[in-house]
Amino acid sequence: MTTFNIEDYLRPDIYEMEEYTPIEPLEVLSARLGLPPERIIKLDGNENPYGPSPQALAALADYGRYHIYPDPEHALLREAIQDYIGVDKAHIMFGNGSDELIDLIMRLVLGPGDAIINCPPTFGMYSFDAVICGAEVVRVPRRADFSLDVEEIRQRALDRPTIRPRLRLDHLTKKLLFVNSPNNPDGSLTSREDVLQLLELPLVVVIDEAYAEFSGTSVADLVPEHPNLIVLRTFSKWAGLAGLRIGYGIFPLDIIRHLWKIKQPYNVNVAAQAAALASLEHLDYLRANVQRIVTERERLYAELVQFDFLHPYPSHSNFILCRVLGRDARQLKLSLEREGILIRYFNKPGLRDCIRISAGKPDQTEVLIQALREVV
Ligand SMILES: Cc1ncc(COP(=O)(O)O)c(C=O)c1O
Repeated sequence: MTTFNIEDYLRPDIYEMEEYTPIEPLEVLSARLGLPPERIIKLDGNENPYGPSPQALAALADYGRYHIYPDPEHALLREAIQDYIGVDKAHIMFGNGSDELIDLIMRLVLGPGDAIINCPPTFGMYSFDAVICGAEVVRVPRRADFSLDVEEIRQRALDRPTIRPRLRLDHLTKKLLFVNSPNNPDGSLTSREDVLQLLELPLVVVIDEAYAEFSGTSVADLVPEHPNLIVLRTFSKWAGLAGLRIGYGIFPLDIIRHLWKIKQPYNVNVAAQAAALASLEHLDYLRANVQRIVTERERLYAELVQFDFLHPYPSHSNFILCRVLGRDARQLKLSLEREGILIRYFNKPGLRDCIRISAGKPDQTEVLIQALREVV
């Protein structure tokens, strides 16, 4: 056999792509810091510090059919979620986390020559998945206060053809717009009025509401009336099931019927389905925890704003973004890490010298604030 060169076989754009750096797993981090996992205060992943409901844990322990494949249509769950969300189950599909649905939507819509409109700073998976689909990313940055620039989005959606970044004159078809509300990492909301304006554009508009339970607002009810609106939700945050991977989307009927064709049949495992179902059957416990997290977010904001080297942004979510003033934000993150407190550090356009802190339990806030005082 002549020399086998893998480069000749792989997609050139993937071959050239930079590798993705995942967040360090807790066990690895605990070994590196020399701290047991229970000593680590994890405020870097916007997870729910209270975890799943006792009923979800009991459902996992009692479930007796782990040797049988899951229901590909998630019938019981779709029945249960229609009451929770107030939209008929015909519009609803579950995914292996809402991450899977972001990827699935893109695979349904995008190909070479197509583009998404992305509004950074925002959740990283939109541009990541678009690039894997071989599509382009048209950036319409948010304003300094993180609000959406609706007028600029309109301009960019309507101006076609355009020039590709590599200066090849081409017809780039903008097909999908991703808007995260409340937005990760700053926690700002996009108003219903702005969403309605965006729906006038010739685009499929995806509103990612991963954190909606912490803001108490949603546009899911608009989906049945709008053929170009998709709303994504998840059980990772409010229901404490991030590790089980289960999210869902609310889709127009003319989109969902095509999505069903391309979904992997067993995308959501039986454990995730059982835990999500039990969560929906016992909402009081989870809603009380959401309220605790919202209260803690407000208390955390009130504490953070007292530090003259921090500028926290008001948040409708379960985290707070802070600009670090006159200090090295990365050093601050590393100093907290040495104390076993994990936060997120950003240093990219729109997020220079920024840290993001998830709202934890009250005692975790105490330890964090004490550590910040000691850093001073
Ligand atoms: C805005 C946003 N969307 C989606 C997700 C992913 O949700 P899931 O765990 O359901 O894949 C996250 C997770 O952090 C997120 O911040």
